[in-house]
Amino acid sequence: MCGIVGYVGHRPALDVVMAGLRRLEYRGYDSGGIALVHDGQMASAKKAGKLANLAAVLAEQELPASSTGIGHTRWATHGAPNDRNAHPHLDDEGRIAVVHNGIIENFATLRDELERAGHEMLSETDTEVVAHLVRDELEKTPDLSDAVRAACRRLEGAFTLVIADAQRPDVVVGARRNSPLVVGRGEGENFLGSDVSAFIEYTREAIELGQDQVVTITPGSIDVTDFHGDPVQVTPYHVDWDVSAAEKGGYDWFMLKEIDEQPQAVADTLLGRHTPEGRLQLDEMRLSDDELRDIDKIIVVACGTAAYAGHVAKYAIEHWTRIPCEVELASEFRYRDPILDRSTLVVAISQSGETMDTLQAIRYARQQRARVLSICNTNGSTIPRESDAVIYTHAGPEIAVASTKGFLAQVVACYLLGLYLAQIKGIKYGDEIAAIIAALEKIPAGIQRLLDEGDQVRKLAAELADSRSVLFLGRHVGYPVALEGALKLKELAYIHAEGFAAGELKHGPIAVVGDGIPVFVVVPPRARDQLQEKIVSNIQEVRARGARTIVLVEDGDDDVVPYADHVIRLPQVPTLLQPLVATVPLQIFACELADQLGHDVDQPRNLAKSVTVE
Ligand code: G6P
Repeated sequence: MCGIVGYVGHRPALDVVMAGLRRLEYRGYDSGGIALVHDGQMASAKKAGKLANLAAVLAEQELPASSTGIGHTRWATHGAPNDRNAHPHLDDEGRIAVVHNGIIENFATLRDELERAGHEMLSETDTEVVAHLVRDELEKTPDLSDAVRAACRRLEGAFTLVIADAQRPDVVVGARRNSPLVVGRGEGENFLGSDVSAFIEYTREAIELGQDQVVTITPGSIDVTDFHGDPVQVTPYHVDWDVSAAEKGGYDWFMLKEIDEQPQAVADTLLGRHTPEGRLQLDEMRLSDDELRDIDKIIVVACGTAAYAGHVAKYAIEHWTRIPCEVELASEFRYRDPILDRSTLVVAISQSGETMDTLQAIRYARQQRARVLSICNTNGSTIPRESDAVIYTHAGPEIAVASTKGFLAQVVACYLLGLYLAQIKGIKYGDEIAAIIAALEKIPAGIQRLLDEGDQVRKLAAELADSRSVLFLGRHVGYPVALEGALKLKELAYIHAEGFAAGELKHGPIAVVGDGIPVFVVVPPRARDQLQEKIVSNIQEVRARGARTIVLVEDGDDDVVPYADHVIRLPQVPTLLQPLVATVPLQIFACELADQLGHDVDQPRNLAKSVTVE
């Protein structure tokens, strides 16, 4: 949600900022804007809608040449997504320009106070107060960074701010509480961005910003302090992917590219995790073996697709470790007074590492003395920074709003965690763990086969493009796969879709089954005899009521074929690993159907890649 860019250096700031905003488009937004410092003046432009609209405005209203600029893509929270509410926001004199990600919770009080003092507000946003506050502070200090720090001390809520002052060319100041902000280190130029993709084409050297920090960049310096002006230690890091990873590379959609990258994402997430003898080693596991041996309860917290990865994880973790594992939506977790103590391991799953509900859940868990391990795809993001331990997934940047390779990599990381705990606790023999790892290592080839056979799924999507409602059924680990299949279709194709545990069919869902409704069914591997028989009955039940059945079933299993209108074959894999293959055709189906319907596959309406407000 909301993309932020700041630049000072030797290049045309307009180009750098617009390029950064384009790379941040994936975060989800509904308006865009830019401000440039030129000759003691602030020049700005903003426009509702996609960046193409802003570019059209810029083509007419030429902004002056400048090498200091800030930019923003806004996902509306306070105030409609119109031109007026788009960022940047300026103070009365048009001297200070502010862009913001987050929600300033005390903005109404501040706004009253500022209006009483004679300031005129032009928008309905919470952000605008910051421009006026900073301007007021500049009456007390000539230093922009001091003024920003003073303003920050008055703000409550979540805010990443990037601020420019018409009277300070070559300076941009950023501030961070709760919402993300990273610094890019260049040669004679420096950058600020919501994430590294904002500046990856110019530099791969980055600096993490911590909570409640203010950064001041000039072309030749980066100074970081806390909100009181005390210098703080920063952590520089090198980004291990380059600009090509954040580009479409010939694909029509990032999502298609990311679906195709899944064999690599799974292989890379497994890479280097075990010794030649088969013993698992997790480098970023900062919890000691003794601490892990004490764990007697696991709670997975996550949102959206990441929560479904958690649902898959529960089956594997409980089976392999015999430790009770709950899965909870992060948004519900801290409001229900969960029972946590030192021996509870809270596992936060987040591709972006910035989802606000997940972040607040881990903060709550740590306050309650639970240990927190995060599974994350984004180096330097807030959730791993605030966790006791982290397992990074190595899926590479995920740009499409709907998570695909991120999901599979999260599932793999959860399996690694489960196996690692089983190893530490001595619950599984080394050869048992090695056998599961060997099966995991074969998964990329299985995914590749499904990708190669994608045309049949695409054809099916074309046939079903006018469906008004689609159901997904699964049992055991097939249940979260059904949930994920339905979520993908909902978010991309805007079609009503529901995932159900097949056992629940007769407790409600069957009532909506009627003529021609497509019902996808994930059939458990034959090794799970009992489940398999039951799901065959479920398929018959929906078919008898007129459903069109699309059955995902492993190679060699022909029992369900007589009841299937369409069969999608899956490679044979151990039951607990089946989600890693069964999810793939459902991703392709949703992506293709959305494309057929003419939707923006990468940026579905109303959705954001990273939900950085509660
Ligand atoms: C948003 C995205 C989803 C993602 C979810 C959790 O809703 O659209 O694709 O699964 O956030 O994101 P996270 O970054 O925490 O995994």
